[in-house]
Amino acid sequence: MRSPLTRRIDAIEPSIFATMSALAAKHRAVNLGQGFPDFDGPPWIMEAFTAALRAGKNQYAPMPGTRVLREAVARYQQRSYDLRWDADAEITVTAGATEALFSTMLALLEEGDEVILFEPWYDSYYANSLLAGATPVCVTLRKPDFRISADALAAAVTDRTRMIVVNNPHNPTGRMFTRDELDAVAAVARDRDLIVLSDEVYEFLTFDDRRHIPFASLPGMRDRTVTISSTGKTFGVTGWKIGYAMASAQLTEAVRTVHQFATFAVNTPGQHAMAHALDQLESYLPEFRALYENKRNMLRDGLQESTLRAHVPEGTYFMMVSLPDDSVMGDVDCARRLVTERQVAVIPPSVFYRNSEEGTTMLRLCFAKAEQTLREGISRLQRC
Ligand SMILES: Cc1ncc(COP(=O)(O)O)c(C=O)c1O
Repeated sequence: MRSPLTRRIDAIEPSIFATMSALAAKHRAVNLGQGFPDFDGPPWIMEAFTAALRAGKNQYAPMPGTRVLREAVARYQQRSYDLRWDADAEITVTAGATEALFSTMLALLEEGDEVILFEPWYDSYYANSLLAGATPVCVTLRKPDFRISADALAAAVTDRTRMIVVNNPHNPTGRMFTRDELDAVAAVARDRDLIVLSDEVYEFLTFDDRRHIPFASLPGMRDRTVTISSTGKTFGVTGWKIGYAMASAQLTEAVRTVHQFATFAVNTPGQHAMAHALDQLESYLPEFRALYENKRNMLRDGLQESTLRAHVPEGTYFMMVSLPDDSVMGDVDCARRLVTERQVAVIPPSVFYRNSEEGTTMLRLCFAKAEQTLREGISRLQRC
């Protein structure tokens, strides 16, 4: 038989998450690698979901998403950021942010286009670029600050560049880009007539009273940006896979064309529950932020007793830590040793880089973990 693998599939490497999770299970490790909570979301959200399914909200939702959820998204975007989206023509509910990213990149990239990704990146940007037949061009966010370099960005743009992908707050560095950094990206997008894909799934997971700046709110960016977010992160229910994309009617139409044939519609009772949840955002967020800020502080403080140096995140539930300068091991060997010898799983971030070797000098930790798990994980890291 001929190889069933297309070049597109061949180009995509197996995910590090599957490898590390298998090792974590085998060694019964404390898992600080996986990027999701090991505790449940709030009970009132579960009740809203159960109420929706008991009320018979169990058949296909409309292709763009239920009206109640699209309207709730439009309401919170206006309340939080004064951004106005038309619920009919500009908001599409997707199977998590993952599907929104896939549908957007497939819809808006041509074979041969170049896409600018900031590395370290969230892994689906790189894979989706390849699946769309485009070429990812990486611009490194260099440690210790992980700032966007306007010069490096300008140098990466060519006549074939079509899209810039921005993730803010940023996984894995925990950076929240400043207004100046975002303005520099917007200036390039305007000057070179580029689309921006802005992944804002951690928009509410922000610390020390910092507030998120949506990319579409920058001058001239509303109609050239596809903004993607997800209720999974904000409400601690990643398994429900309810995300959404917000964009001008023209861009939305393109995104919906892929969405229609990729998933068509997203789970209906979950959408009703999420519409209710988004309407409670303001009363919910203080507790949510305090919960994660305490976890971040616990990890940051605990690591002071270790040889690892924390890059303290401003948002998200990830923390990058640098290995000691004299470490003879790179990130992959170190992560393997930690899981097999200390029974603590972490992610080696070099897999999120293409240009730079900097990833080999760090590890990525996730602190979306119950206090007991986090305490145990910290004590195992302190011994290394
Ligand atoms: C930056 C980023 N974007 C998108 C996603 C995927 O979100 P969802 O679970 O809603 O598909 C994740 C999940 O970890 C993420 O970290």
